[in-house]
Amino acid sequence: MKFKSQKVAYYFFALSMLLLSLQIVYGFIMAFAHMGFDGLHEWIPFNAATATHKNLLVVWILSGFMGAGYFIIPDESDTELWSVPLALLQFYSFAIVGVIAVVGFHVGWFEGRKFLEIPRPLDYLVALNVILFLVILLMTMFKGKKRTTTAWVLTSGLVFAALLYLPGMIWFDNHTVDSFFRWWVVHLWVEGVWELIMGGILAYLLIKLTGVDREVIEKWLYVIVGLTFLSGILGTGHHYYFIGVPKYWLIVGGIFSALEPLAFLGMTLFAIQMYRKGNKKHPNKLAIYWTLSTAIVAFLGAGLLGLAHTLPGVNLYTHGTLVTAMHGHLAFWGAYASLVLAIISYSMPLMTGRKIYDNSIGHMAFWFSNIGMIGMTMAFAAAGVAQVYMERIVGLDFMQAQLEIEPHFFVLIIAATVFSIGITLFIINFIKFGVPVDEAIGEGEEFSALQTS
Ligand code: HEM
Ligand code: HEM
Ligand SMILES: [Fe+2]
Repeated sequence: MKFKSQKVAYYFFALSMLLLSLQIVYGFIMAFAHMGFDGLHEWIPFNAATATHKNLLVVWILSGFMGAGYFIIPDESDTELWSVPLALLQFYSFAIVGVIAVVGFHVGWFEGRKFLEIPRPLDYLVALNVILFLVILLMTMFKGKKRTTTAWVLTSGLVFAALLYLPGMIWFDNHTVDSFFRWWVVHLWVEGVWELIMGGILAYLLIKLTGVDREVIEKWLYVIVGLTFLSGILGTGHHYYFIGVPKYWLIVGGIFSALEPLAFLGMTLFAIQMYRKGNKKHPNKLAIYWTLSTAIVAFLGAGLLGLAHTLPGVNLYTHGTLVTAMHGHLAFWGAYASLVLAIISYSMPLMTGRKIYDNSIGHMAFWFSNIGMIGMTMAFAAAGVAQVYMERIVGLDFMQAQLEIEPHFFVLIIAATVFSIGITLFIINFIKFGVPVDEAIGEGEEFSALQTS
């Protein structure tokens, strides 16, 4: 760690780990409900569980991105964070809004718009919070001595993510119009600007971990940003097929969204090439594993499994079924969850001075969680395909088809248990690091010096 103020990142990472654990609890509640064991229904009905599961996901990932911003931007700009007290204020207010939202879901205070369930009054608090976060980052960049491409890509991803939250805050009476703009948030986040955040964090990690020249890595970053915008913006059309908008969206959405996997393929080739090219590899093996797996699993979950249901002729059958859940899990896991775990694995030794780089708990955490998630994806796939067949081809009633696919959720629960063991081990390592200390300043710098010499 170069600067004392980078320690702020730790708070956000710890919150991330806490919320991830809670998210998993709600995943199990839903998986059991799908199997017919819905004993908690009176207190946590399925709609509250699913809103909580998905919003906790978004909040822990955002918390991880914020931590990454606070760790990376001072380092890249070569200066202390602009204001630590304001960053802490931003942290506590972020956590409080998150808690209110989650409690609210359990007492029926939510909007039924998938992923955007947080009620509008709370949205204003979220917006204020994010503005404060961005002001702190931008002020740090402007007072700094350097402004790197990596820092710009990461920061612009975060700024655009904040701007794109706004269309979801406007009130529309018409359901089609509301749906149209809801996708500006949901789709243009995960298949647009979050990819910039992903590109920025991956570039930073690859520069640090492989020893390849910054110029080479940053050139790739432009290619990825280009591909993302080329395909992702009009790719939004793959959510417009059947919501009541003009027919041309079938063609526009089909063509452009089918190009989207290219951006993810670019990211994978980028990471693997840079790893191969690097001749001075960092001793932090766990961070290298998570960095490479982010790029690879994102391509599988987002690119390939996205492509699997993105053409209108297929989506007509799979829309809104468990096939979507299959893709949603592996895409989020590969692209964004693993990315947060990668930056945590890289930064924790530097903030705490403890070199937990290569221990068996860390390796087991990596393999259990990845294998568990692949198993979960397969269980959702089997359930999803069976659901599509029975409900959309044979014409069984929705609830009848759900009864038929109950056994698949037993498999889901087994795979989810393997996954959860992995996450528990990751969190055990996180706790073993302890808290950041000032003595860790200068930690890791000897390796950076070695790279540039
Ligand atoms: C023990 C772990 C988990 C279990 C048992 C689990 C289970 C579930 C279940 C049963 C659903 C509802 C499916 C439906 O009926 O619509 C769901 C939804 C979802 N979960 Fe999980 N989950 C787990 C972990 C995760 C993780 C780690 C992520 C992200 C990295 C995630 C992302 C999602 C998403 C995005 C949805 C919405 C899917 C859709 O749009 O259809 N889950 N989960
Ligand atoms: C990291 C990137 C991605 C993530 C995290 C992600 C996640 C998700 C989630 C959570 C949903 C459910 C949304 C909802 O119903 O509200 C979804 C839907 C969808 N995704 Fe992705 N996705 C990603 C990339 C892609 C890509 C690259 C493609 C196409 C090649 C794609 C194709 C689709 C399609 C067609 C749907 C609609 C499914 C339906 O009709 O029910 N996704 N995605
Ligand atoms: Fe999309």
